[in-house]
Amino acid sequence: MGIVLDRFFPGNENETIELQSGHVLEPLPEEEKKKQAEDWKGYPYGLVRLSPGRWLLPTNFKRFADRIYGFKTKSTDVFVMTYPKCGTTWTQEIVWTMRNNPNLDNPAGKKFIFVRSPFLEMDMLFHKPSLKMMPSWNDPLARAFLQLCPFKNPLNGFMLQMSEAIPEPRTIKTHLPFSLLPPSLLDVSKVIYMARNPKDVIISYHHHCRINAMHDFVSSFEDFVQYFVDDDLLYGPYWLHLKEAMERKDHPNLHIVFFEDMKTNPVGELSRLNIFLGTNLTEPQLENIAKYTSFSEMKVRMEASGFNEDVLPTFKKDVIRDEGGFFRKGESGTWKEKLTPELDEKVDRWIQEHTSDLGVDFRFGV
Ligand code: A3P
Repeated sequence: MGIVLDRFFPGNENETIELQSGHVLEPLPEEEKKKQAEDWKGYPYGLVRLSPGRWLLPTNFKRFADRIYGFKTKSTDVFVMTYPKCGTTWTQEIVWTMRNNPNLDNPAGKKFIFVRSPFLEMDMLFHKPSLKMMPSWNDPLARAFLQLCPFKNPLNGFMLQMSEAIPEPRTIKTHLPFSLLPPSLLDVSKVIYMARNPKDVIISYHHHCRINAMHDFVSSFEDFVQYFVDDDLLYGPYWLHLKEAMERKDHPNLHIVFFEDMKTNPVGELSRLNIFLGTNLTEPQLENIAKYTSFSEMKVRMEASGFNEDVLPTFKKDVIRDEGGFFRKGESGTWKEKLTPELDEKVDRWIQEHTSDLGVDFRFGV
């Protein structure tokens, strides 16, 4: 049995509508639409822009936007929020483990991460007619959906409904910025925002957009850097995403963490999370969790549990074989291998233009 989620009509990409968040969702200008269609083969229904903010999202977002904005959050919820490729999965695993598997003996810890910790807006990304999200009821996502949402129709948003249905305490992943999420989010729930230096984000995002048919970027690396600095990538603009978090940094329910700090001092960062989450774990427990969530251990465990091209049919086997999978390097500073001096200069200029009013001092790896 198979279910093709994207058989849904995603809506007319040419219409302008107003969302409950107050944003106006508009089609892209014709010239930009043409270029996007040439460089990205994973967006056959096109992309839309939201203003204010110039947020760039798949046309399918309009089907879920108001439901996401009205999502009923709970006091025990923790949202892990990042711009793409800043270490969401890593933080998700840390948070879920600290709250549900502190002694590393919970068998549920072996389950595919999206079953334990859903990706709130993932449904909007299944926008390619050839992508079958649930190829068989044997796959862990489909089975989890059947268990958690027995009388629900997955075509109405299988991840969104799973996010609603998973038992407390819920750890939910999102790449959406604050302004597109429930306005009471921070007053009700906790949010962990992870940031990463933009140079490494470029490298990791480029890789992701090549290995994943949900994006299927087919143009050059130079073009990708240009898309990034022009704020023309999905979930962008990068700076506004970060700025919306920084503006809320003093809220007691928001915890901001940097990828680079987690990398250099994982136990120290886990201790800060321990206080923020109120998990009261001991030093040895934190040390064990830091090791358990290290890149090498997570890569093996996650790839075995479902983060692989068999379960995620949007992963492109051939590119992964040549260039590595979702768990690529997990390091800080790999931009140095890829950014030419010219591109580096371009990104430096862009960083200088944006950091002055942000109060963020990135570390760029050794
Ligand atoms: P690289 O492509 O630089 O290796 P996200 O989960 O937001 O998509 O971020 C993915 C990035 O985080 C990838 O970066 C991935 O390898 C890295 N990552 C995942 N788990 C990690 C871990 N346990 N430690 C360090 N980096 C990790």
